[in-house]
Amino acid sequence: MTSVRYDNATRTYEGTSVPAVDALDLDIGDGELLVLVGPSGSGKSTALRMLAGLEPLDGGSIRIGDRDVSNVRPRDRDIAMVFQNYALYPQLTVADNMGFALKQAGVPKEERRTRVREAARVLDLEPYLDRKPKHLSGGQRQRVAMGRAIVRRPAVYLMDEPLSNLDAKLRVQTRTEVVELQARLGVTTVYVTHDQVEAMTMGHRVAVLKDGVLQQCDTPRKLYHEPLNLFVAGFIGSPAMNLVPVGDERPLRLGGSAIELARPGDAALAEISGAITVGFRPEALQVGEGPLRAKIRTVEDLGSEVFVHLSLEHRGQPLALVSKMMPPFDGEPGDSIGLQIIGATHLFADDGSRVVSTTATLQAASAPAGVASDASPAAP
Ligand SMILES: Nc1ncnc2c1ncn2[C@@H]1O[C@H](COP(=O)(O)OP(=O)(O)O)[C@@H](O)[C@H]1O
Ligand SMILES: [Mg+2]
Repeated sequence: MTSVRYDNATRTYEGTSVPAVDALDLDIGDGELLVLVGPSGSGKSTALRMLAGLEPLDGGSIRIGDRDVSNVRPRDRDIAMVFQNYALYPQLTVADNMGFALKQAGVPKEERRTRVREAARVLDLEPYLDRKPKHLSGGQRQRVAMGRAIVRRPAVYLMDEPLSNLDAKLRVQTRTEVVELQARLGVTTVYVTHDQVEAMTMGHRVAVLKDGVLQQCDTPRKLYHEPLNLFVAGFIGSPAMNLVPVGDERPLRLGGSAIELARPGDAALAEISGAITVGFRPEALQVGEGPLRAKIRTVEDLGSEVFVHLSLEHRGQPLALVSKMMPPFDGEPGDSIGLQIIGATHLFADDGSRVVSTTATLQAASAPAGVASDASPAAP
């Protein structure tokens, strides 16, 4: 039974004033695959190294199981780490590479052999045990690196961007293997990546870091549908959520159209003062029929889906939006096309926090109140 708990854990590097990891509170369940994700420099590796004991804490504590390990030496923490740059010993066979740490730890030869065989079976590496690393593919070498961690049977696996060196196709394949492997072994795992797709596809839960501060830790579904703030909303999802600054005017407007909110958005709007950002994902923006017109900039046809990049004038500035459509789509760059919002719409307050998620529709432009419209047809 191995859970992990970061309690207010802080690390400030010498010569810097801002913590690389700032008062991190995080509970990781027994057997959970938790992914730490964030942009480069957000503190992911530091958080992992704190858990490994490779970085001292400047505040707070870390527990593995019911043991406070804050001052425990790395090798006594019962963890195994897989890095991006896993150097295999080129002169050793796969079997000897995998068994190396066990040999150093004084594990008897027979026991070593058994554990290496077991790990090799789990990783589909049995046929390669006698090979040298240079006779393996990149994916197989990566699995050997995982094997070195597996044979140690630790309480927690720590993985820091272990797939970054693989090409795109192999990365996708290997991430599925890592997920299956982790499920089979049931070992609590903390997995670091900067790639939000990797995070969303692999994590039971995903913790999003920015500038050393935890933004949100939730299931992938919740992160996608209920982001707590603008940062998470913009970071999770590809293409990114459309985020439209609408200022403090009411009613809310997108270009020349009013944005009409359904319950509970309309009620929540009345409670918000200050500037608002409206967010809706590409799949919630439909092009074709619609009260607002935009210009097509580019069309990305991926076969299974089409991303239509659009531009329109909004508050005197060009605004870029993206719509996800089902194929076939036959608009061309330069075309003028109608827009409508058809799905979840989020409102973010001035401080970036999400206030409400609702649905919205765009209304046809109408003449400003109090101004007679010459364009309206004469009454019969
Ligand atoms: N040894 C170090 N000394 C000083 N600053 C460091 C050191 N290692 C990392 N940092 C800084 O700490 C922050 C977090 O780094 P890191 O944990 O490596 O981020 P990530 O893994 O998310 O890219 C960055 O601003 C980085 O420049
Ligand atoms: Mg890193």
